[in-house]
Amino acid sequence: MKFRKSAALLAAAFTVAGLTACGSDSDAPSGDSASSSTGIKGAVIGFAQVGSESGWRSANTDSIKAAAAKYGVDLKFTSAEGDQTKQIASIKTFITQGVDVIAFSPVVETGYDAVLQEAKAAGIPVILTDRAVDADPSLYKTFIGSDFIKEGEKAATWAKTEFANDAAVNMVVLEGTTGSAPANDRKTGWDNVLGKETKFKTLASQTGEFTRDGGKKVMEGFLAKYPNINLVYAHNDDMGLGAIEAIEAAGKVPGKDIKIVTIDAVKAGMEALAAGKINYIVECSPLLGDQLFDAASSVLAGKDIPARIITEEGEFNQAQAKAALPDRKY
Ligand code: AHR
Repeated sequence: MKFRKSAALLAAAFTVAGLTACGSDSDAPSGDSASSSTGIKGAVIGFAQVGSESGWRSANTDSIKAAAAKYGVDLKFTSAEGDQTKQIASIKTFITQGVDVIAFSPVVETGYDAVLQEAKAAGIPVILTDRAVDADPSLYKTFIGSDFIKEGEKAATWAKTEFANDAAVNMVVLEGTTGSAPANDRKTGWDNVLGKETKFKTLASQTGEFTRDGGKKVMEGFLAKYPNINLVYAHNDDMGLGAIEAIEAAGKVPGKDIKIVTIDAVKAGMEALAAGKINYIVECSPLLGDQLFDAASSVLAGKDIPARIITEEGEFNQAQAKAALPDRKY
């Protein structure tokens, strides 16, 4: 709390200094991150993570912790292990502690209104990263993350082209955590492109909780029930990797007998794509740490920030995965 007051005073001082120094050389470091990092050193930031369900999540946690160290932030990090109640309890603790900024990636989309109101009443700004909430936007400063609907649309657009010459496609879906923004939006995105294409038949759709084990178990059930699956749409790489194990155990060839499209592009997913076991991956970047602390720095300096900060992402076929793998950081 102390940091917020002094940051606001400092911002006012900088504005005056900036006006008087106009036109002269500056000693300030160049680049957004460097200049922001000087403005947030020593701030106390509470981050309530979803959990550790996937390779993507581990990379996201690493990105946040590394950026906190780089920016000199006092990070209070908690992990909800997929439990919304636990995550809300963490946010309440941050409010009691009087941290300068609260950031979190919501486990599911709904149910955060009361705790967001509490943070607002305590005067603590909130930043959402990775996942959105269905709440009054005035309760948080910004949402930094991917366009999950677009990701679903990209996956479906690939499938439409890949199966252009097939009369019928029997698909199964490995959904993410029920009620989470990525699970909801990746379904919406897919349906936007293929919802009316009757040749794509969804045999079954079930949550694998974004985990490799979940994807494997659900896929085993699908394979036992449906002998004619052509396509798996997995809402993340980890579930796709679990599906590969189930498909191989069933004596089929992933990527050939059953095609697989996933979302994330973590290293293990990209390796499976390079090996031909996954057919296509839509990227979802977990590297949100710098953007988070840049945004927090601006908020603490009293600056306006965009209500939505979208991350740039690509798509990969087998050749593109092979080319990208040597430099893949996560
Ligand atoms: O919210 C992002 C999603 O959550 C990632 O796609 C998935 O791997 C993670 O668990």
